[in-house]
Amino acid sequence: MCGIIGIVTGHTVVTGLISSLKLLEYRGYDSAGIATMQDGQVWRERAAGKLANLEKKIKDDGVREGGIGIGHTRWATHGAPTEGNAHPHIVDNVIIVHNGIIENYAELRDELLENGANMQSETDTEVIGHLISQQLKIDKNIETAVQTAIGKLTGAFALAIMIKGEENLLIGARKGCPLVVGIGDVEGHYIGSDALALSPFSRQIIYLEEGDFVFASKEDYRIFDQAGTLVTRDINHVEVQSATMDKGNHKHYMAKEFFEQPDVVQHTLAHYLNMDDNQINIDANLDIKKFDRIIIVSCGTSYYAASVAKYWLEEATNMSVEVDVASEYRYRNPPLNAKCLFIVVSQSGETADSLAALRLAKHKGATTVAIVNVSTSTMSREADFVLPTFAGIEVCVASTKAFMCQISVLATLSIALGKAIGHINADQATTMASDLAQLPRLINDAFMVEPEIKELAHDISKVEHMLFLGRNTSFPIAMEGALKLKEITYIHAEGYAAGELKHGPIALIDEKMPLIIIAPDNEVYEKTRSNIEEIAARGGDITVLTTQKRAKEIRKLGLKAIALPDCSSFLAPFIYTVPVQLLAYHTAVHMGTDVDQPRNLAKSVTVE
Ligand code: G6P
Repeated sequence: MCGIIGIVTGHTVVTGLISSLKLLEYRGYDSAGIATMQDGQVWRERAAGKLANLEKKIKDDGVREGGIGIGHTRWATHGAPTEGNAHPHIVDNVIIVHNGIIENYAELRDELLENGANMQSETDTEVIGHLISQQLKIDKNIETAVQTAIGKLTGAFALAIMIKGEENLLIGARKGCPLVVGIGDVEGHYIGSDALALSPFSRQIIYLEEGDFVFASKEDYRIFDQAGTLVTRDINHVEVQSATMDKGNHKHYMAKEFFEQPDVVQHTLAHYLNMDDNQINIDANLDIKKFDRIIIVSCGTSYYAASVAKYWLEEATNMSVEVDVASEYRYRNPPLNAKCLFIVVSQSGETADSLAALRLAKHKGATTVAIVNVSTSTMSREADFVLPTFAGIEVCVASTKAFMCQISVLATLSIALGKAIGHINADQATTMASDLAQLPRLINDAFMVEPEIKELAHDISKVEHMLFLGRNTSFPIAMEGALKLKEITYIHAEGYAAGELKHGPIALIDEKMPLIIIAPDNEVYEKTRSNIEEIAARGGDITVLTTQKRAKEIRKLGLKAIALPDCSSFLAPFIYTVPVQLLAYHTAVHMGTDVDQPRNLAKSVTVE
């Protein structure tokens, strides 16, 4: 994680560094810092906590401008989130910011300490500064010295570096973490973690490749590959949607984003579904008959989107569908070959483990598809086919609208593949597609449960643990509900398959254990209903999310029920996501936690 920015224009850079850091804060907010150089002087400001703390410090201390500068927003890996561990780090003449993890840092650090190095921080980054500084004493050529020193690192990194006395030289290097170079729309050069960070200054973007180094001045830039050969990389014209850092009438980005769901789902569906004739049109040449299985890999909320799709894809295609979390998948040596259709699902398109899994699948000959929200991301560029989601920029760390758009794409893909393989016929496909076309209205209607959820949230804000249960596609929604609650309220919550409860977790049930049971009126409703009775018999504090008709029956049992709009089984995961998102949100608001930037989290996880 962590976001990095570097600017060399020869003019004032501080405002630019801060505006980029605002766009990078989604990568971590444990601390932030900037450094500039001017007239032989280096100025550095760092602050623990959010960027606002750094801004305040700069205001209090006074700005010292420079024609070159680097900046960083941190998600702590090595060392506590203190000011002392905040980047930029300065070692002799080297000023450095880093995203990633240096795996051989302990050996390098021991070696440096033995040789008398004076370490100021607990970070792995400082070790890189020492290595470069030492090498510069041996080799006066900055380009070769930097390449030699960085060649000693194992692990993942994206770096921005300045050298004291070199006020027209900005250095970047990457391996395993993304780094882009921007050619200024007006002047100068920029390096940053992503195109979004450079969007205030540059539309001409170069995506550095693995092992690349860049040496940029305000007039020019040179890129070397990992073998040290001068190379030319493509310049891409990128129109990054400007991040509207605006909550509208809402108190939090999360609220703004989940209320956008009817619109962004509509927008996403419109890309894949012709609303006039209910025909699905997937713009990817996937010859489904050549595959014998489908594999979907992802992390976090995207993993739950994939888990919903497993039910749909198996039903629609009659093919075996495997779903896994990327951090496990990539190290399992999984059987993969040209008969596998491999799908990665990711909001950011940068998640380190998901990206590694995608690369593994490509390497082993699978056909790869990326379902991503950020069109300029690494996964978008590397997958064989890209199926974009159109959620727009999601600012809140806890994902809501991106999830809805992911399942929208996966639903259309299920119909398209099912029809192509012949397991569902044209009429069935059209019926399913016309069902999907109802989604924006139904999602909108689902928000009508907000007053009841608000009341429930009041009670939930007092508990320490709770359970979410569901069967079939409601099982992943139960897990997503539990994840949302954990992320933004810090209440311990778990999502279970309702039928699995009796194999252990039922021991937790007593009158102090609240349970949300997701029970749309579908083919497994009666089974879930039996589970509800089992829990009621043990005194569990149950709230059932179900239909109007079923809610009446449940209330007759003396249990709480909240009624959602009637919908088909196919659409249930969309509709039942709304109340679990609302519950997490209103509980967090009651508790006064930081809804948009919860503790310890980051939106884009670029370390494994
Ligand atoms: C982080 C975020 C989650 C997200 C997960 C996967 O943990 O906090 O909200 O679901 O990463 O991210 P991706 O960008 O790959 O969907």
